[in-house]
Amino acid sequence: MLGAAINCSALAGQSHGPAAVDGYRLRNAESEPGAWMSSGRTYNEQRFSPLAKINPKNVSRLGLAWYHELDTARGNEATPVVVDGVIYTTEPWNITTALDAKTGKVIWVFDPKVQRERSRFACCDVVTRGLALWNGKVIIGALDGRVIAIDAKTGKEVWSFNSFAGQEDMPLTITGAPRVFDGKVLIGNGGADMGARGFVTALDADTGSLLWRWWIVPGDPSKPFESKALEMASKTWTGEYWKVGGGGNAWDSFAYDPDLKLIYVGTGNGGPWSQARRSPEGGDNLFLSSIVALNADTGEYVWHYQTTPGDEWDYTATQPLILADLNIERRPRKVIMQQPKNGFFYVIDRVTGQLISAKSVVRQNWTTGIDPVTGSAIVDPAARYREKPVLIYPSAFGSHNWNPMSFSPQTGLVYIPLTDQPRVYATPHKGPPGSPDPFGALRKELSEKASQDHLAWLSAWDPISQTEKWRVQHTITGNGGTLSTAGNLVIQGTVDSKLNIYAADTGKKLWEFDAQTVPISGAISYLVDGEQFIAINVGWGGGVAHIEQAFSKGLHISKARLLVFKLGGKLRLPPLPNELPLEPPPNRHPTPEVYSNGERLYQTHCEMCHGSRAAGGVKDLRRMTNDTRAHFQDIVRGGTRQSQGMANFSNAVTKEEVDMILQYVNARANEDWGSF
Ligand code: HEC
Repeated sequence: MLGAAINCSALAGQSHGPAAVDGYRLRNAESEPGAWMSSGRTYNEQRFSPLAKINPKNVSRLGLAWYHELDTARGNEATPVVVDGVIYTTEPWNITTALDAKTGKVIWVFDPKVQRERSRFACCDVVTRGLALWNGKVIIGALDGRVIAIDAKTGKEVWSFNSFAGQEDMPLTITGAPRVFDGKVLIGNGGADMGARGFVTALDADTGSLLWRWWIVPGDPSKPFESKALEMASKTWTGEYWKVGGGGNAWDSFAYDPDLKLIYVGTGNGGPWSQARRSPEGGDNLFLSSIVALNADTGEYVWHYQTTPGDEWDYTATQPLILADLNIERRPRKVIMQQPKNGFFYVIDRVTGQLISAKSVVRQNWTTGIDPVTGSAIVDPAARYREKPVLIYPSAFGSHNWNPMSFSPQTGLVYIPLTDQPRVYATPHKGPPGSPDPFGALRKELSEKASQDHLAWLSAWDPISQTEKWRVQHTITGNGGTLSTAGNLVIQGTVDSKLNIYAADTGKKLWEFDAQTVPISGAISYLVDGEQFIAINVGWGGGVAHIEQAFSKGLHISKARLLVFKLGGKLRLPPLPNELPLEPPPNRHPTPEVYSNGERLYQTHCEMCHGSRAAGGVKDLRRMTNDTRAHFQDIVRGGTRQSQGMANFSNAVTKEEVDMILQYVNARANEDWGSF
């Protein structure tokens, strides 16, 4: 009895207080099926739960066990972690909470008080995608560059390291989850779109002191290169690339192989997007859009595989990386798998970086295929846009974005949230301001074509045969990540505010839940006292929510929440506040001049968060209550909702201008009345 029941890792956990997660436990995470100790659950980042208590036979009894409501409706992208009965989660502005994983009772809340001005540098909302555990500490990467270790027991700060120190001139943000490997914590950053130069930083996870840093693209060649790899990379750049930033920022995915002692980094797109502006004579522009393997001890370059040579379509390779051992042509292979934005599904030898196979999962016209000799994608020269607009597949949202994919060793399939749509690319029209755009008509035609062409589905992809086994078609693009379980389940949220469960082997729909807002993140599963739970953060935000406002039409969004389910769960969500009857806007019609001034001001200051034509976005302003309308000036110029992420615009717009914006927004509500 005793011998069988003793498990070193479980004992270690119990004898050292909460989150006693050491190197042994992380390396052997597979032996703790009830825990979820890091973003991808184990070092292989498969997001597969070996739990099978919830399965197709009983999933119809799955219901809400508890939920934790946030004080925001914004993008809630984090994957929570669970160990020893405690769930740790982190939310917009990096507010981090420990809760009893069985009951949802809050144990502590830590607010790093991120400077709200940072949101100007966050292309895609003030989100965070997760956190890490190490030796009694919860480690977060804050939007403003701090990596902070929190005492897992008390919720108090243990150490803090500013990973942006010395780089104050760069528009950087952290949104990705830190990863802890071998006593070190690795963090990246975003900002390629804003003119930054990317790097990753490794710290001592116990003390927060800097161990190594790896720059992703070369800097000013008149100064010494930070590494030999960058000296090599600099030969693939042309012109004065260091003056514009370069990009490459690793803002999301990492993986670690403890046997090979390699850390894998998924790198980002070129900044600025247009290669003509970044590296005018062309070149591959290493290490943009690449998977790079680094020596985990020293941070030295080992190998790279570039997915998109000389990227200029925002084709990041920051999408999730999954490690697996697969039998390919009767040979066991240690592989790394990725489905980056560029539309290929890659299987790569993770020892050498050699391409094993690559296959298109969506429509592509930027490439003519993979060169059989070099293993590199061949760029179609017609896709290298200049002033004349071109329609390119996939779009900058990618065939797949950060939303986690998962791999089930049981079915051998990878479950990927896919989007298949084009985008119009062009460098800005060069004529003097106000001069006619020679490509105006073409631009309009292509934009219309692009706006009508969008497909999305959940794909069950076989990485060995590189074929799709089944798909579930979705109506809206930008859907949530996936979790797969040994109970033959795949869990995915969709933009229609539903959390869905499918059979992992066939794709048959088994269950659905109205989440009242969009579950865009990845779910997890864990065990407490023998009972299996499924947990997911829900909250509509991020790039797609902000930009493609049309999609949020008709979504009456609740506050962001952490939802937790179990068999027999009976809890109900409170009705949406938006289900209360809408209050009609005042029946006052602005003059055409006020309307167009209000519209212009709205487009300049408000559209990026509140949607085009005041529809959708983080908060649909057509749906304001009369009380909110009465407090419009206070909200916009008085900063009364600053803590909820509504910036103070007193420096940007006058009282009179705010009144014009209000009149415009009210007029839009009148125009659309009855249809939203
Ligand atoms: C960087 C993103 C961002 C920008 C830009 C922005 N807002 Fe907001 N705004 C928010 C968020 C987030 C909320 C939701 C706050 C909350 O939960 O109440 C909000 C809420 C509001 C509300 C309250 C709506 C309601 O129904 O409760 C008003 C009014 C508002 N914003 C007006 C504006 C105006 C006018 C502008 C342009 C001058 C603007 N906002 C620009 C993020 C933004």
